[in-house]
Amino acid sequence: MNPMRFLIESATSNNQLSGRLVSGTLKKGESIALAPTGQQSSILSLTEGGRQLKNAKAECILDLELTYSVPIEVGNIIVPADERPEVSDQFEAKIHWLDSQQLFPSRTYQLNSIGGNTEASVSRLKYKIETDQDQQIAANTLKQGEIGVGNIALIRPIIYDTYAHCPQTGSFQLIDKDTNEIVAHGEIRHGLRRANNVHWQALDVDKESRAIIKQQTPRIIWLTGLSGSGKSTIANLIEKKLIVKSRHSYLLDGDNVRHGLNKDLGFTDADRVENIRRVGETAKLMLDAGLIVITSFISPFRAERDMARSLFDSTEFIEVFVDASLEVCEQRDPKGLYKKARSGEIKNFTGLDSPYEPPLNPELVIDSMEMTIEQAADTIIDFVETIGE
Ligand code: ADX
Repeated sequence: MNPMRFLIESATSNNQLSGRLVSGTLKKGESIALAPTGQQSSILSLTEGGRQLKNAKAECILDLELTYSVPIEVGNIIVPADERPEVSDQFEAKIHWLDSQQLFPSRTYQLNSIGGNTEASVSRLKYKIETDQDQQIAANTLKQGEIGVGNIALIRPIIYDTYAHCPQTGSFQLIDKDTNEIVAHGEIRHGLRRANNVHWQALDVDKESRAIIKQQTPRIIWLTGLSGSGKSTIANLIEKKLIVKSRHSYLLDGDNVRHGLNKDLGFTDADRVENIRRVGETAKLMLDAGLIVITSFISPFRAERDMARSLFDSTEFIEVFVDASLEVCEQRDPKGLYKKARSGEIKNFTGLDSPYEPPLNPELVIDSMEMTIEQAADTIIDFVETIGE
């Protein structure tokens, strides 16, 4: 039998509320608890459309009165006092992939469930299931129609049951944050307790104090654009000019980072997603250290640039679109890579057989076909020094 789960959708006081019975049976007089707070009370009365009931079965909309007032928030779930759900920000789930674009394990999706809505990513895909044979096959992505099992990491904990215990509170949907389309259905298999033991360590020296002794405001200058658009050359000159101004900076450059931190990554869409996730996190550590960080990566996908942006305060992150047409980049071809890509020697080359999604609202656009490198660097530095003042 499915457990009783009642989702609170509105409350007029701390003992009068309305919501949806999503699972099981609710009875007058029943001892209940509130998830996630654990506050306890009991049901004084239940009514459906003004009609008093002795008990009600899912699915229905009810008004409830509690015997004792308890602090109530919309989104809390009323449950039997002796059959409570779990709360976690990490779990293992079965994922049914629906979207025509494949699953990218490090991408941030919106997760919607009865027990809460939050951002989430598939932190590790374990295997996919061949539906006809129930066979487990190692996989690092899922294509449309495929089913797999993986770990889901959430930004905030949600209330949940395992799908086997309660299908309603054990399911979720993953939504693409750009298109708002449902990309996957999920079934929770079990929570991962590991997350409960990893805490933030409070540190006494913070970002502000580190920045103050450097006498500067830390920033991220995030350059994005096609290969050959001029990102690295501009980034290099920005850093030279910053040093002359006694600024403390650090340049993270695609070609260099891919020799060390990201040397295990190639150029498939999934690897590029992970490349930018790591760069975003690294840039955040450097900003925290008080530095002006310049990143020079193609960073072709909007979703990952937005993910990087979300790690910072609004004036900290400056997205600069280094704009040059594909034709011009191909003509410049400083590393001879377009030639190799055209001859089929390199696969998944950005602009040719791999997409580039131009920024929609960058802080700056640098037209590198019109501006000199000198002008580009000066424009960016001027912007960085005046933003937020
Ligand atoms: S990103 O797409 O993941 O952001 P990143 O900026 O790290 O790419 O690396 C791009 C650099 O790698 C290019 O400047 C180029 O020198 C090199 N490169 C090698 N193969 C490719 C490819 N298939 N597509 C794009 N760049 C490539």
